[in-house]
Amino acid sequence: MFADQVGENISYEKILAPEDGFIEAAKAFLAQDEAVGCNVTMPFKLDAFNFAKVDDQAAKDAQAVNTLMKRESGEVLGYNTDGVGLVNDLLNNGVEIKDKRVLLIGAGGAARGVISPLLKAGAASLIIANRTKAKAEEVASASSNPKVQVVAIEDIASIAPHIIINSTAASLSEELPCSLSDGVLKHCEVVYDMVYKNSPTRFMRDAAELGVKTQIDGLGMLVEQAAEAFYIWTQKRPDTSDIVKRVRDIVEQSEKRN
Ligand code: ATR
Repeated sequence: MFADQVGENISYEKILAPEDGFIEAAKAFLAQDEAVGCNVTMPFKLDAFNFAKVDDQAAKDAQAVNTLMKRESGEVLGYNTDGVGLVNDLLNNGVEIKDKRVLLIGAGGAARGVISPLLKAGAASLIIANRTKAKAEEVASASSNPKVQVVAIEDIASIAPHIIINSTAASLSEELPCSLSDGVLKHCEVVYDMVYKNSPTRFMRDAAELGVKTQIDGLGMLVEQAAEAFYIWTQKRPDTSDIVKRVRDIVEQSEKRN
């Protein structure tokens, strides 16, 4: 869709690499004259980080690379576009990040990738809460930024967050990633669920019932992280507004069929 829009003729296809063979698969692909770059998905984002030359701060913070780009010299650069994808999707939805208190639930790879882009977008603070607190502490100390702190998952109300981002997979099993009671949502303007399904997740529905004005799922983040990768490869920025709608239609139709 991006290539059609900007008049590029590209081939973008899936390559299934063996679990212990990422580097060989990446090298074989990138050795082709016409190869410009590729996206990398689970479980290879750490392998890609170790394989590529990484200057991108988000990729360094996440220790994970989702986009590879081959330079003319043959050197391979690694980026992480997930966090930029999240920030751009928030901005597209009219959410102000600047000076806001952001609560990030979860401390896995998905959480790590969004920390530096959220800070860059001007968040006043970024508080991490996770079911296993020690993991949140690890992630926060790796970021070594005083704006990044940790709170116990039972104490999130004390943060009075303006924005809550769920980076856990809890929504896939219709579980809440954290409690929404006891005043947690008193100042909350937006909840963001990185999961996307054909209908709002329980986290989004419950937040709406409790009066949170805006609930957003992760489909726009998916499209925006892809748009950022496309920009890295082509230096052309697609207009994503219509594409998010088209991808949502495709997701809805395919879920109806299954
Ligand atoms: P990813 O790389 O996609 O973020 P991950 O590294 O497996 O995946 O991390 C999953 C995150 O979701 C973790 O923070 C996990 O919490 P734990 O560290 O305590 O395992 C969190 N998580 C997964 N399922 C959850 C659930 N049902 N409720 C709350 N947190 C959950």
